[in-house]
Amino acid sequence: MYCSSAPGKVILSGEHAVVYGNPCLVAAIDLRSEASVEVTNEEMIEIISDKLGRQTFNLEPEISGSELGLFPIAAVAGSVLKKAGRRRGLRIRVSSQIPFGSGLGSSASVLVAVASACSNAFELDLNLEEIAMLAGEGERKIHFKPSGVDVNVALNGGVMIFRRGRSIERVNYPDGMRLVIGFSGLSRKTGEMVKKVAELAESSKDRFEICLMALKDITMRMSKALASSDLLELGRMMLLNHMLLCLLGVSSETLDKLVNSAISSNAFGAKLTGAGGGGSIVAICSSKDEDSVAQKIKESGGIPLIVSISRDGVRNWKM
Ligand code: MEV
Repeated sequence: MYCSSAPGKVILSGEHAVVYGNPCLVAAIDLRSEASVEVTNEEMIEIISDKLGRQTFNLEPEISGSELGLFPIAAVAGSVLKKAGRRRGLRIRVSSQIPFGSGLGSSASVLVAVASACSNAFELDLNLEEIAMLAGEGERKIHFKPSGVDVNVALNGGVMIFRRGRSIERVNYPDGMRLVIGFSGLSRKTGEMVKKVAELAESSKDRFEICLMALKDITMRMSKALASSDLLELGRMMLLNHMLLCLLGVSSETLDKLVNSAISSNAFGAKLTGAGGGGSIVAICSSKDEDSVAQKIKESGGIPLIVSISRDGVRNWKM
């Protein structure tokens, strides 16, 4: 059996702006998704997911009905079979520590793990770029115009500046750095939020351009602040960042409340992370305040998660 795992992510700055070619500061976190793959003699792709149950597909998977279900995973597996030139069945088990629809990159981490484990099962020896292409195909079935940031950070780990179509730039960060996340418990659809921003880009061109310019500047400042361990500056920039995301129309009362609760309990800064709408916020604070920030998030109706930044991207092993 061939196994792979890949991390989820937190976008520290530049979500949505990245769809328009701007830089995005993103960190891999120590919540991971795992895929294990067996080659079978049955002419089908069988997928067993801890969250979505079991579904089977033929070797050239097609979507059945209106629900995506596990189709994006089957599509990735189907592409690997095509690449390998093989007509063999696959049994794929997937599980994830990342809450579904939380804005923490659960789908990309699952798809990267699946692409990697399937290609190892056929000894395809693909490089990271090729795995990214395969997982990206699955992401395109789920989201509208994905920038590729989630897939790239799941593959490479660590903290990076990601720009569409450019090579990643690694960013240093304080050793053992932790983040406090507040999941609203409301899952959201990334594609819908990306479309909402695209509508604003059409209807309020000037406001949109101003937001993009400011977000780009903030992303670069945050990357410098992180590299020099200036968490106060990082936090200040996160708050401004959140306000710009409010102007882009992707925050919500629930997310604002969670950001406010983190700030009021001594966090250096907090902002929504990922597509917004529902999903999560991320807060930065000193380690002595982590528990009280998490507690305040809980009292405000959120689900707190204290996570570390993960240096590791995709991991592979055989059982
Ligand atoms: C989703 O994690 C981040 C967005 O910028 C969409 C994307 O980059 O594909 C909202």
